[in-house]
This record gives sequence, structure tokens and C-alpha cells, in this order.
Amino acid sequence: MNKVKIIGTGSYVPSKIVNNNELSHMVNTSDEWITSRTGIKQRRISEGEDTSDMATKAAIDVIKSAKIEANDIDLIILATATPDSFIPSTSCIVQKNIKAVNATCFDISAACSGFIYGMDIAAQFIRTGRFNTVLVIGAETLSKIIDWQDRNTCILFGDGASAAILQSGNEEEILSIYTGSDGSKGKALICPAIPVNNFCANPGISLNKSTVSMDGKEIFKFAVKVLVKLVNVLLTESHCDLKEIKYIIPHQANSRIIECAAKKLGIDSNKFYTNLDLYGNTSAASVGIALDEVYKKNLVKSGDKILVVGFGGGLTYGGLIIKVI
Ligand code: COA
Repeated sequence: MNKVKIIGTGSYVPSKIVNNNELSHMVNTSDEWITSRTGIKQRRISEGEDTSDMATKAAIDVIKSAKIEANDIDLIILATATPDSFIPSTSCIVQKNIKAVNATCFDISAACSGFIYGMDIAAQFIRTGRFNTVLVIGAETLSKIIDWQDRNTCILFGDGASAAILQSGNEEEILSIYTGSDGSKGKALICPAIPVNNFCANPGISLNKSTVSMDGKEIFKFAVKVLVKLVNVLLTESHCDLKEIKYIIPHQANSRIIECAAKKLGIDSNKFYTNLDLYGNTSAASVGIALDEVYKKNLVKSGDKILVVGFGGGLTYGGLIIKVI
């Protein structure tokens, strides 16, 4: 089996900042409510860039950081719940934009766990020797599927993209990966697509409005439960102790979810790296943006271990432990 290295990370967020006070002019909410219930202070919102545009910028950033050429990339896996179109896939649009002419491209749908699912798939392809250099992207334009009249959801989300390049190497950088799903709870977080409304189906089916709706309490309970489970499973599988982990990078959904999980794990919540105050929940982009920040700010050095965990719609969850080379 080949060993897997992360040779670079990248990210991109739109320049437009929307703070909580601005949202309080759109729905009945306040900076105080949003900050105390979620930890979010502001988010980035697209002024017209679509998912492929942001993904392309994150891809250009990671190619630079990995010091490779676009035509070295064998595979592009793009995780998103907000693709530009049904066809073509957003990964193929990125391929065209960055001229990664040698890449096979596909999108995956695992909501906020998408980046981790993508890393898992990339690692398996590299280990078996099927592909050597894999670009993983998590990118979302959530602002296009948010109901901006719904205060239960519109305060939570933001737009952005993140990326990583994985390659076969001499040393193993991914110590353990774990993923899971629970489709039976899928209704807790939904955004409908087009219903079957062809001439053979029941006439009169109206087109759904494709916006996000959520059972916040159900998601909150699920998130705390799987976060704790993921940390324990990943530590066991990699024979690591929690004390050896420099940072836990969680999906950036809500600071209260992180505080509850920290309490259950018996650790200080400072061990969790967060930037959700600045970006809100960027779904598939979230953990990758945080990981990129950790690397670019030189917060980790060779030998440090980082535990990354995600959860979200599906319901889905997953995580990995990285040993920085
Ligand atoms: N501003 C002001 N009041 C709001 C509000 C807002 N933005 N959103 C909801 N409220 C109100 C509710 O209507 C409710 O009012 P009521 O008591 O009169 O009915 C009250 O605040 C409490 O609502 P509740 O849903 O109990 O709040 P909460 O403490 O559970 O927090 C969430 C709501 C959404 C912040 C929280 O449940 C959460 O973060 N869940 C996880 C969501 C998530 O992370 N989703 C993405 C996962 S990938």
C-alpha cells in the first residue's frame, strides 16, 4: 500500500462581509442572540461568484502551496451541496478553469462532512496506486439555498471554498480515517431538489422551493454525540492519546456544540481550533478553511497531530488524524 501525504492546503472566501447587525435588519434577530447561541459574528456572502468560481480560487491557492503544476493532478474530488449545475459537475468546471487536463473529476454529496469524505476517498485511491496526486475541494455557495426570511437558518451559514492536495509519499501523514452516516435522520436537515414532475407522474406537482430547513435541536444533539464518538474512535484506531493532539479542528457549526463536546471529552474547549465567528458554517468548505489557516499561520510543526472532525446533513459524519510531516 502506498503512503499518503498532504502536500498543500488552500482556501478562498468572498470579500463581502455580512455581520449579525446587518442580518437583524432582514429578520427578527440580534447580534446578542446570534453570538450567544452560536458564536457566529459575521459570514462571507457571494456577490455573484458561484461554487466553481470559489472552488477554482481555492484550487489555484493549493496548487501554489503544493508547488506542483495543474497537469500533475490525476483526480479532482469536489464536495458540495450547492453545485453550479446538475450537469456538468462542478469538479469538471474547475478542471477546465485550472487546466488540469490529466484529471478524472467527480463531485460528492455529503453536506458538511464532504471534505472529510473527499479526503477518505482520495487516500484510498492513492493507497491502492490508482491515482498519485489528488485535489480535494470543499466548496459551497450556501447563500443561494438559504431562505433569507427564516431566522432559524439564515444566521448560521456562509459561503467559501477550501482545498487540499494529497499525494503518495515515503511517510504516512493520515494516521486514521473514520466515516459514518445515518440516513434515518435525514429529515433533520434538508434542501429539496426537483420532484418527479414528468408527463407520466401525478399531474399538478408543484416545484419545491429549494431552501434549507432544519431541526436545530436534533442536529445539535447528533453533532455532540458524533463529535465525541469520532474523537474516541480515531484515537483508538491510531493508538494515540488525546494529550498528543495539538488541535481538534471541528466542523465550524456552533461554539456551543464544541463546548458541549469538550465537556463530555473532559478537555478544555481551547484545544478546538475555531474560526466560525468570522465565517459561520460554510458546510463542505468549513474544516478545510480552518485546516488551511492552521497551516498558513504556522500553528503546527513537523510531528504535531491534528484531529479533524465533521458532521452534517444526510446525516453524515467523519474525521481523520493527521501527523504533520
Ligand atoms: N434570532 C432570535 N430568535 C431566534 C432565532 C434568531 N436567529 N432563531 C430562533 N429564535 C427563537 C426561536 O423562534 C425560539 O423562540 P420561541 O421560544 O419563542 O419559540 C427561541 O429562539 C429558541 O429557539 P431554539 O430553537 O430553542 O434555540 P436553540 O438554543 O436550540 O438554538 C440553533 C437554535 C439553531 C442555534 C441551535 O439549535 C443549533 O445551532 N443547532 C445546530 C444547527 C447546526 O449546526 N446546523 C448545521 C449542522 S451541519
